Amino acid sequence: MIRINARGAILTSVIALILVLLFVAQWKRNEINAWRGPHADAASPPVHHEDTKLDDVAEFKDDVAAPAVPDYSAGNSTLGFQAILALSQGTKWRVDGLHAAAKAAGIAVTVPQQPKWSEPFIKAFQEFGPVEAHGAAMAWLGHLDLLKFVIQNNWGSALILEDDMDWDVDVRKQTPPIAKAVRELTKSKKADTEPYGKSWDVMWLGHCSDPPPFKDEGKIITFADNTTAPIEKYRGLNPRVKDVIKDGQRIVHFSINPVCTFAYAVSYQGARNLLAHASLGKGGAFDLMLMHACQDKVLKCVSVNPEVFDPYFPAEGGASEVRAGDAGVDFDHEVGKAKGHTDNTLNSARCFAQFGETCLE
Ligand SMILES: *[C@@H]1O[C@H](CO)[C@@H](O)[C@H](O)[C@H]1NC(C)=O
Ligand SMILES: *[C@@H]1O[C@H](CO)[C@@H](O)[C@H](O)[C@H]1NC(C)=O
Repeated sequence: MIRINARGAILTSVIALILVLLFVAQWKRNEINAWRGPHADAASPPVHHEDTKLDDVAEFKDDVAAPAVPDYSAGNSTLGFQAILALSQGTKWRVDGLHAAAKAAGIAVTVPQQPKWSEPFIKAFQEFGPVEAHGAAMAWLGHLDLLKFVIQNNWGSALILEDDMDWDVDVRKQTPPIAKAVRELTKSKKADTEPYGKSWDVMWLGHCSDPPPFKDEGKIITFADNTTAPIEKYRGLNPRVKDVIKDGQRIVHFSINPVCTFAYAVSYQGARNLLAHASLGKGGAFDLMLMHACQDKVLKCVSVNPEVFDPYFPAEGGASEVRAGDAGVDFDHEVGKAKGHTDNTLNSARCFAQFGETCLE
């Protein structure tokens, strides 16, 4: 009798334990899916499990405290977009600095897991796709993947950053006047509730140059912004910015010749239009394809000048895997030690977070 009871008790405990574990597993799954949105399962790209380490599969989201009253303005923790996503292959100094800078400026940046593309797949893309270099092919695949992520989550807009980006600690004060100017430039309807309106596809918030239009080329909306760096220190591929903009000003205009996809936002329709165009797999490097799509009016593009996002150059060299192609240099050990610099940024969030100083040269 006693033996049977003991056995029964053990059996009951084991069943109860299994049920609890199943419940916890299902709950965790629901929690993850709830965050990722309704189509998360379909969205997940194939992962090659054999070479995936556990820390590679984590999706990192900054923990910015939610305001008591929901804030849907361009100055909220996602800068008025539905999400801020970083394109990253997980290089430690870049991602660590990204999160430190996000914290310093009170914004939430998500680093979605990038699929582990197999070498034969990348090679096939290099052979048949628009670019031949390994790094450039990886960049293309990464951008396509993030755009799909935006569409499958049904987001109204998203800001896509390269993972070495830096910005001002006051970035949340910079975006509201930008949003107002973009609405004015694009003649957005009063009924459009999005902070930046929705009469645009792509907004270049970070680039290495886009010359402001001449009078007959298009309109410029100018506004005051006392968080901009002194204009004589402006560094970019096109010096015309210095002729048009005065200290304490920023401008927005339709894109003329935008170069480098440091940081670009896509609207709801823009994400779909860009993915459809990018899927043709033409036009060379991803940023050149996007520049041409803007110039040819395949996409309606807006540029912000001077740009809000610029890369952080570590003291030890500053190669970017995306831009430097196949260098694949790992600065992790060296980067944290000495302060680097960021162009066109008065109070760099990375330098403030990591060194407590500014780093405009
Ligand atoms: C910020 O504002 C945008 C646009 O209104 C909104 O979609 C987004 O959810 C807001 N972000 C947060 C964290 O509330
Ligand atoms: C910019 O202007 C605002 C309001 O006019 C002021 O509160 C702020 O201190 C100024 N910031 C700088 C860096 O001058």
